[in-house]
Amino acid sequence: MTTASDSPLRKKSVETVLHQNDPVGGAAPTGLAKRLTAKDLVAFGIGMIIGTGIFTLTGVQAKDNAGPAVAISFLIAGVIALLAALCYAELAAAVPTAGSAYTYAYTTIGEIFAWIIAWDLVLEFALGAAVVARGWSGYLQSALGLPTQFFGEDSVVNLGAVFIALVLGFVALRGISESRWLTNVLVVIKVSVCLFIVLVGAFFVNAANWSPFVPPSEPAATEAVGTLQTPLWQVVSGVDPSVFGVSGVLAAAAVVFFAYSGFEVVANLGEETKNPGRDMPRGLIGSLVICTALYLAVCLVITGMVHYTQISEGAPLSDAFAQVGLGWAGVLIGIAAVCGLSSVILVDIVGMGRIGFALSRDGLLPPAVGRVHPQWRTPVGVTVGTTLFVAVLAAFVPLGALAEMVSIGTLFAFFVVSVAVIVLRRTNPEMKRPFRVPFSPWLPALSAVACLAMMASLATETWVRFVVWLLIGLAIYFGYGKRHSKLATGERKLALPVPPQT
Ligand code: ALA
Repeated sequence: MTTASDSPLRKKSVETVLHQNDPVGGAAPTGLAKRLTAKDLVAFGIGMIIGTGIFTLTGVQAKDNAGPAVAISFLIAGVIALLAALCYAELAAAVPTAGSAYTYAYTTIGEIFAWIIAWDLVLEFALGAAVVARGWSGYLQSALGLPTQFFGEDSVVNLGAVFIALVLGFVALRGISESRWLTNVLVVIKVSVCLFIVLVGAFFVNAANWSPFVPPSEPAATEAVGTLQTPLWQVVSGVDPSVFGVSGVLAAAAVVFFAYSGFEVVANLGEETKNPGRDMPRGLIGSLVICTALYLAVCLVITGMVHYTQISEGAPLSDAFAQVGLGWAGVLIGIAAVCGLSSVILVDIVGMGRIGFALSRDGLLPPAVGRVHPQWRTPVGVTVGTTLFVAVLAAFVPLGALAEMVSIGTLFAFFVVSVAVIVLRRTNPEMKRPFRVPFSPWLPALSAVACLAMMASLATETWVRFVVWLLIGLAIYFGYGKRHSKLATGERKLALPVPPQT
């Protein structure tokens, strides 16, 4: 059993995590309602994964970095995400709890690392929701011709993004079943639009547009050389910054990794899943495999319809159809994108709620943050706080600056989860593991190294911002969390003000 300790490296035992929601002395159940099935988890995963990554980054990266080989970039990123998903699946099935990577770190490498991961996940979810809210606003502006001063990237205050963040924050607050219903509808729309693009667009593919498939390497534009926009590995190694060629494909893979972030939200729903041992791996891996297949097909079709030098960077998917004379299809895709992007924002806000709930339960954030609404059974404090934070970010911060931050945060969390699998196999060999990563420790080690390599391909300025964010998090930990942690006070449980379920 976990004991009180003063060290920031103190750990929770796996047993404590597994039993932290057991009623004490006949008291009411304190946790979240168990309602979700494997199908719901796959829908949640797809709802989270498909978003601005495929709808916007495809065009930007094809045009600026990889050409038609952006499909290879998506494949590389997808394979790395799948390695991480296998690691997530093992831990999420064995330790099904709100907080996922945070909780795994808590049981394996210690409280301070767990806090860093949680702080990192806040970055991923909050900034991810803000990125997608801005993307949503941009698509809406283009589909309906709305005023650019309030919608899209040219706005001073992006009121469109603020509006969608507030509406979906309220939906998340009303509870998982309402969110689940809405998410499922939006997921169907999003998958349908991808299938439409592939099946209809295939008739307009001109194979000549795929040549050269990997455009030859060329020096990066002079304004990028020697600036903080150069990938970290090129700054460290002194290699001249370049675009296209093999290094361009790899650089694009790091950026489009954003398109896969989000599947791990599924792991946050472990406490609400009926049969996590069976359904967690299915939810995580299933959603990722479906999305990777769709992404590859969409990339190949779009770069086949339009030569990469002519591809649109703002709305590449709908504009490709307009460019081949199917304007009506472009408008339909734009409207579907607006609907589909909503589900990403929603699942981000729901995921944030679960992280905040876990942090508050453990005493690392004040109890008010994790307070559960008496009727809706959702963590009201963190959901309201997160929604307001997302709305402010979405109002003022440009999409591009936020997106790379999400990628680095996601990759860092994946790195820790991969390491946690290896550590937990050694420290808790007897633990019941309904799902085991094959070829451990080699596969988790490969996953960890691949995540680090992807992080090194991101811009140096993204690293600087990431380190500043982590330092702010450490200040909060040493200012509040370290003293109030349940491990510091020796309490095993946090009594939440939740009435008995009827
Ligand atoms: N993967 C999500 C997207 O592409 C965050 O928008």
